[in-house]
Amino acid sequence: MNITSKEIRQKYLEFFKSKNHAIIESAPLVPENDPSVLFNTAGMQPLVPYLLGEKHPMGKRIADVQKCIRTNDIEEVGDNTHLTFFEMLGNWSLGDYFKEESIKMSYELLTDPKWFWINKSHLAVTVFEWDASAPRDEFSAWIWESLGMPKSRISFMGEKDNWWQAGPTWPCGPDTEIFYWVGSGEPSEDSNVKNDEDNWMEIWNNVFMEYNRLEDWTLVNLPAQNVDTGMWLERITRTLNRSESVYDTDVFSDIIIKIKELTGDKYIERSARIIADHLRAATHMIADWVFPKNVDQGYILRRLIRRAIREFFKMWYEWKIIWEIGKIYITKFENVYLSIKNNSERIVDELNKEEEKFGKTLKNWIKEFDKRFNSIISKNSWVFEIDAISGDKKKIKEWFSESWWLFWSDVFTLFDTYGFPPEMTLELFIEKSKELWTPSEIINDLVEIINNEFKKAFEKHQELSRSSSEWKFKGWLGGSWEMETKYHTTTHLLLAGLRKVLGNHVHQAGSNITSERLRFDFTHSEKVTPEQLAEVESFVNEVISSGATITLREMKKDEAMLAWIVWSFWEKYPDIVKIYTITGPNWEVYSQELCGWPHIESTADMWTFKIQKEEASSSGVRRIKAVLV
Ligand code: ALA
Repeated sequence: MNITSKEIRQKYLEFFKSKNHAIIESAPLVPENDPSVLFNTAGMQPLVPYLLGEKHPMGKRIADVQKCIRTNDIEEVGDNTHLTFFEMLGNWSLGDYFKEESIKMSYELLTDPKWFWINKSHLAVTVFEWDASAPRDEFSAWIWESLGMPKSRISFMGEKDNWWQAGPTWPCGPDTEIFYWVGSGEPSEDSNVKNDEDNWMEIWNNVFMEYNRLEDWTLVNLPAQNVDTGMWLERITRTLNRSESVYDTDVFSDIIIKIKELTGDKYIERSARIIADHLRAATHMIADWVFPKNVDQGYILRRLIRRAIREFFKMWYEWKIIWEIGKIYITKFENVYLSIKNNSERIVDELNKEEEKFGKTLKNWIKEFDKRFNSIISKNSWVFEIDAISGDKKKIKEWFSESWWLFWSDVFTLFDTYGFPPEMTLELFIEKSKELWTPSEIINDLVEIINNEFKKAFEKHQELSRSSSEWKFKGWLGGSWEMETKYHTTTHLLLAGLRKVLGNHVHQAGSNITSERLRFDFTHSEKVTPEQLAEVESFVNEVISSGATITLREMKKDEAMLAWIVWSFWEKYPDIVKIYTITGPNWEVYSQELCGWPHIESTADMWTFKIQKEEASSSGVRRIKAVLV
């Protein structure tokens, strides 16, 4: 079957539309009000409030294509399947259908000649086996059987494989996963995921979310039984086209061809794949207002762009090559995501700026690296030679670990002074070491030692720079929930105050709330003076002490836009939106804003608002940190 990723995206949504699902836009990559993760890693993440029981304005059946980033497997990128950025096709039941209908719909979409028309004998499934968390899912297995799935193709697997939850807390539940035959020839009758793992590839996951995992690890029932499904667009494209890798599909092929053309006989397949993956992710991150920085999301972005540049360096490099690739992605995606269309110039600009910063110094850095590396070698080489000659592997390993310790300070100096991502220094170190001493049987062990030590040191370094606190997963429930809700409402007041004092050019550019503080990014190009800040602060406090009320109403998005209601990232909102209005005792309207998050009902029991800090966040964007005391 030849089918493009674009057709698959369309067909998927069309199918669920025909099953009465409302189709919603992808949320931005950066969770707007969720400090627990840096990026959305699954389609369910922006829907967490609704899985927890909040009413979704578009109803109980939802489907979308969500942009996601996962960086935990970044080292694997370049093989046939791993990616940092991917699009997740998903459908949800928010307390509507459950296991039976969900499985039936998935099976219909995959096998019906009208839709994806996959050969039924090329599918296998797994279902949840009894475990500490929940009972064995006989019901799902029974549904599969009733649809004609042979018993031998259904494997019961434990919590490790068939239980899904996004973080240590949150909605979760058992799942049933659908696999596609990737072995050669036809699968034998008794082949299944359990006994023939390598020949089956997961394509779709249906999670039956009926539980909520609390901070103390207990499970409670959610207000309703929900379904959360996820299918990677890139992987299903590969599957349906029987392509060797995701890079051989239309998702990437034009980019790979372009890199081949540019690099000629210097072309290296793995480097081209890494570049193709990383710059696709970078393009989407910039579109969603991430800027290259040394911490948080910005650090991931920086690392991706810089790694792409370095991969080019391994083959052939020319100034401004990065945005040449970025431009192809803009063309590919501008008709799919408004974020790309609306920000195309800025994307090119940011890619260029980062390339300028990094590309120019990369050569010097490699020289600097060589110098430091050689000095380590010369200090220790006599030890090494003796050990190498003696062939004592244990000693070689010890030597290697010790030399590596000498290298720590260099790694972080290079990072702090020149901005070279430590991972990249690590890569170079490993490459060089392989060139120099290669008792090949031990090189993998050495790499593992180094990687482990590196992880420890990097975490410590991040802790010291106080950015790692942002990496923590954190739950939504518990005592902190109420405080966070107060901060959501405070954020609306802060925006209203800023617009009042600075003008209507001020929009929200990002928000990050914990139970202890709010952090708010907004569009404004100059420093806000202390007088202006004091004015904003007293506006917010006056509203709070007036005992204003907060009301919610639902409205069509188009009407809301016409009514000049304040919004940011409007493409992230569904067609029917929630509008929160904050009204004073004499019917003064202080703020009207679109928002997907719950708010408190009155400011009566709120505390005093205090701005702690105002600073630049990125160009044209300022940041305020504030607390309720
Ligand atoms: N949330 C599930 C996943 O990401 C569907 O696999």
